[in-house]
Amino acid sequence: MKRLTSSRSMQRLGLSWRQTGAPVVIVPTMGFLHAGHAALIREGKRLAGKKGHLVVSIFVNPTQFSPFEDFSRYPRSEKADLELCQALGANAVFIPRASEIYPKQTETEFSTFVSEERLSGTMEGQSRPTHFRGVATIVTILLNLTQATHAVFGEKDFQQFAVIRKLVQDLKIPSKIKMGKTVREPDGLALSSRNAYLSPQQRPHATILWQCIRVTKKRIKQASKPVSATKLRRQLAKMIEATPHAKLDYIEFFDPATLAPVNSIQSGHRIALAVRFGRTRLIDNSQI
Ligand code: PAJ
Repeated sequence: MKRLTSSRSMQRLGLSWRQTGAPVVIVPTMGFLHAGHAALIREGKRLAGKKGHLVVSIFVNPTQFSPFEDFSRYPRSEKADLELCQALGANAVFIPRASEIYPKQTETEFSTFVSEERLSGTMEGQSRPTHFRGVATIVTILLNLTQATHAVFGEKDFQQFAVIRKLVQDLKIPSKIKMGKTVREPDGLALSSRNAYLSPQQRPHATILWQCIRVTKKRIKQASKPVSATKLRRQLAKMIEATPHAKLDYIEFFDPATLAPVNSIQSGHRIALAVRFGRTRLIDNSQI
């Protein structure tokens, strides 16, 4: 497995891979890899097949964090991450320094950003206004550097997946965007690098996100007609209010194609929610 740190070397390798005609697959991550990332890497390996190439990128992307978020304390585990990528059969890991991607105070200072302007406004985009601009910019850079024919993203960040799929379509980038299922702890908590921030007192209560999803699914399954989003949101908000340490950020019910909020919920719609535990912000979502 190659370990690449410069944009030039990544692009040179990507171009040579792409010329072979076999699939070139990227799994973009911010590292501190867990079983959710591992599932995406396995899916990437499957897409690459015997002849193709798989690269995992590990980069804590500063432009997708706003000034008061957790960029500086985001967890890192480079050694374990490299070992996992090697064990899962990645051909390369791209692990650049921030200055390699976003050069500063030079004649090449970085000044170009990519913004998706329709799907990025709600949910995560509302709570974190510059987040998707940072994600869209780094993903465009990574697709250009790796020349990927395929890129794999997690359902865990469904809005991110939708924004990236749209940007690739709009900008006519020749890469296919694939989705891997959310991997959960046995108690339902979706795996996330940020779960490491939870204190032992907070951790058991973090299952509230999964409980809200389950209550929603059950409610819609039992209903004979569409259910009012306002009423269900009120019920879930009460459950969250009653949970120690938990503070609601948002609950949204939406159409998966447009991400537009729906007033009456039916099967096939999605729920997404964000809940804070102290300084830790957790998100989850599911098809209903
Ligand atoms: P990160 O949070 O490291 O996640 C990398 C990928 O893993 C994303 O596609 C995310 O949706 C997926 N993922 C996270 N938790 C998962 C879980 N429990 N099950 C399945 N997949 C999961 O998302 C990012 O990094 C960044 O925004 C990035 C796309 C790398 C751009 O910087």
